[in-house]
Amino acid sequence: MALHGSILQGSDSMEGSIEWMTPKEVFDPLHAEFGFQLDACASPGMERVPRYFSPAQDGLQQSWASQADVIWCNPPYGRQLKLWVEKCYEESCKGATVVMLIFAVTDTKFWHEYCMKAKEIRLVEGRIQFVNADGRKGPATKASAVIVFDGVQWDKPAFSSWGFK
Ligand SMILES: C[S@@+](CC[C@H](N)C(=O)[O-])C[C@H]1O[C@@H](n2cnc3c(N)ncnc32)[C@H](O)[C@@H]1O
Repeated sequence: MALHGSILQGSDSMEGSIEWMTPKEVFDPLHAEFGFQLDACASPGMERVPRYFSPAQDGLQQSWASQADVIWCNPPYGRQLKLWVEKCYEESCKGATVVMLIFAVTDTKFWHEYCMKAKEIRLVEGRIQFVNADGRKGPATKASAVIVFDGVQWDKPAFSSWGFK
């Protein structure tokens, strides 16, 4: 899927694809900490845990919290990004812990509307190198953040610095 026209639709080096996987060095420590039971958006071969929603199932249309307590979400970038952020927040309000990896786009409406209600925001030190299906790496051209939604509407998220190297 070609992505054009918005800063949120990927970065130059990642343009042209939504199929960029979370690298192992980022995912593994988070999985060790949280123990994910469901990958909310993935495609066959790109899933981070065995249970996942694919585009055919459309993760946005599924109920997450009724199927898992702890959920991973590295959303597809594109026009629907804000819907994924909203979905992560809303599923956490149904009782799940949802951990999301997104660009740290702190000037967006969705950041203020949803991310600022998270329990934690971990600002990633350094640029993540995302991986495509061929194993090729593509550097993000923006900073990333790990958002931890836990269903409580926090007044002030706890901010921390998070290094993955
Ligand atoms: C940034 S990748 C993340 C892949 C993997 N979950 C990870 O963390 O490495 C986003 C994935 O979401 C998938 N996707 C796109 N639209 C989707 C939808 N409506 N429902 C579920 N998955 C979707 C894409 O095919 C892609 O594999």
